[in-house]
Amino acid sequence: MSLQLHERYSLKPFNTFGIDAQARLFTEVSSDDQVREALALAAQRGLPVLVLGGGSNLLLTRDVEALVLRMGSRGLRILGEEGDQVLVEAEAGEPWHPFVQWTLAQGLAGLENLSLIPGTVGAAPMQNIGAYGVEIKDVFAGLTALDRQTGALREFNLADCAFAYRDSLFKQQAGRWLILRVRFALRRTAQLHLEYGPVRQRLQAQGIDSPTPSDVSRAICAIRSEKLPDPAELGNAGSFFKNPLVPVALAERLRAEHADLVSYAAGEGQVKLAAGWLIERAGWKGFRDGDAGVHRLQALVLVNYGDASGAQLLQLAQRIQADVAARFSVHLEIEPNVI
Ligand code: EPU
Repeated sequence: MSLQLHERYSLKPFNTFGIDAQARLFTEVSSDDQVREALALAAQRGLPVLVLGGGSNLLLTRDVEALVLRMGSRGLRILGEEGDQVLVEAEAGEPWHPFVQWTLAQGLAGLENLSLIPGTVGAAPMQNIGAYGVEIKDVFAGLTALDRQTGALREFNLADCAFAYRDSLFKQQAGRWLILRVRFALRRTAQLHLEYGPVRQRLQAQGIDSPTPSDVSRAICAIRSEKLPDPAELGNAGSFFKNPLVPVALAERLRAEHADLVSYAAGEGQVKLAAGWLIERAGWKGFRDGDAGVHRLQALVLVNYGDASGAQLLQLAQRIQADVAARFSVHLEIEPNVI
């Protein structure tokens, strides 16, 4: 099938912040051949390429003078089983949460803690998505990507991907790899991760003593729905900042002043701080300037009440960064890709 091209096309429906920026050229691709065709077309027209999945980790601060290539490839399959382990593969354009539900419906455990995360399968490895004690690196089996420099396909195993907290080789080498399909090693017998307090509490409150992966998924959906705004109702890109790693000495100094500082041991003389706590303490939770704001229930999430521009949201983020740095001597790193 040949490509459907759209000139000067609004990206509003294609980014969860709901920013009305325009793409110079837009196309949705559904196969490897279409990906190659789109890349060739961009080269021919001298346009850079911006690859979009669900647009859920993206802040557009201006029109995009590029070919915006939206990954729309679909397909879910079980590749094989060995003992308890089941290898599944999903095409990059598959929406993440329905994929998680599909694995649960097949009786497969491993992705339940990652329920209800917006975005697509192909974007998930970019920032090693994680929630409630699990990151995709914990269940990752491999992926196939296209090298945009050479046009060759390459297989990546776990070690190749350099996964770290909200980070990967693909994020480090932004613009080089186009992820086509991802494989996960799931299990017939669940090894649940319930160490995150609120998940355990919710299951207990429901009287569930020996939860199934689907029970955990439902509990996590409920927790997320309470705290995190639904992008369909209120534009946002999830956590706007990473939880910062700081030296133990700084965390101790801060704790001397703020007994309720939220922190997690991170090894090697470092401590991870809850950015949401820092931002809330600095007084920004629920703040609103025009249509750009800080969510009233989760200070880590910036929201678009309607017509905020990306530039306005970025300016708000920078004000928060400066204020948190001044008050706590902590630098907050922005999490989504800022274009
Ligand atoms: N907190 C506050 N005020 C706030 C928000 C949080 O004091 O406004 C405190 C909470 O009380 C809690 C701590 O900060 O003690 C942690 O909060 P929460 O459990 O909500 O998690 P988070 O650290 O804010 C991270 C991820 C989320 C993920 C949750 C659960 C990052 C940047 N964010 O948020 O991921 O869902 O943990 O695992 O690591 C995302 O990346 O988009 C995302 C939503």
